[in-house]
Amino acid sequence: MAFFSRSTQPAAAVNPAETESLAPNTLIGLRNIEKSYAHGTSRSYVLRRINADIKEGEFVSIMGPSGAGKSTLLHIIGMHDSAWTGEYYFLDQPVQRLGAKERAKLHKQYIGFVFQSYHLLDHLTVYENLDIPLSYRDIKKSERESMVCDILDKFAIVAKKDLYPNQLSGGQQQLVAVARAVISNPKVILADEPTGNLHSSQGKEIMELFKRLNETGTTIIQVTHSEVNAAYGSRIIHLRDGWIVDE
Ligand SMILES: Nc1ncnc2c1ncn2[C@@H]1O[C@H](COP(=O)(O)OP(=O)(O)O)[C@@H](O)[C@H]1O
Ligand SMILES: [Mg+2]
Repeated sequence: MAFFSRSTQPAAAVNPAETESLAPNTLIGLRNIEKSYAHGTSRSYVLRRINADIKEGEFVSIMGPSGAGKSTLLHIIGMHDSAWTGEYYFLDQPVQRLGAKERAKLHKQYIGFVFQSYHLLDHLTVYENLDIPLSYRDIKKSERESMVCDILDKFAIVAKKDLYPNQLSGGQQQLVAVARAVISNPKVILADEPTGNLHSSQGKEIMELFKRLNETGTTIIQVTHSEVNAAYGSRIIHLRDGWIVDE
């Protein structure tokens, strides 16, 4: 609300000098991103002055204690959340200046999201869950069918295609969730503790999958508590109480 003091917030205006400072193959440029919640007359900050650049093809892990702001940051990057201040450049586009429709378009075209708790639609089969992201796009039915069959094949889950999520193990559900995230060939996969609910062997399978996707050019940003999982990536961003602490 307007009467709250915002003196600790950075200026909201876009500074053209900032965009110019983005290095060539920067996929994601974050400048002074802040997020806060109002409690009565006070305000608590969840993210403070977040500055980070992520290049195309990087494999980044975000680590930090519970409550540090990791999920919040991932949801801002994924454009699920638009209640923040600062500047966010995605493929050189100033996200802070885009309307909801334009953000949704960027999100659908370039971003795949994987959640800790899979988030598959329970009333749809594996096949139908995989078809969902394609249905948002202008793709012919026959082409959609071949894309779904292709991904079922790649992920070795052809035999599961007519089953419902509750007929699968956690590891299998997460495999389907990753397949759903990659089916429309996004530039970046955002994964929030993707192996948090899995046994270690199932978790390893998901991480190996991310590694292969990254080797073929997909940028990966994962939140993880696991040093083993972080070692699959090439860089760690540490968050604490909403601040990035020495990378
Ligand atoms: N709707 C909300 N209102 C107030 N505080 C919130 C809300 N949602 C999240 N938070 C706070 O934001 C902080 C960061 O949360 P989160 O990003 O989920 O942390 P992490 O993923 O690192 O565990 C937490 O302290 C949490 O309590
Ligand atoms: Mg979290």
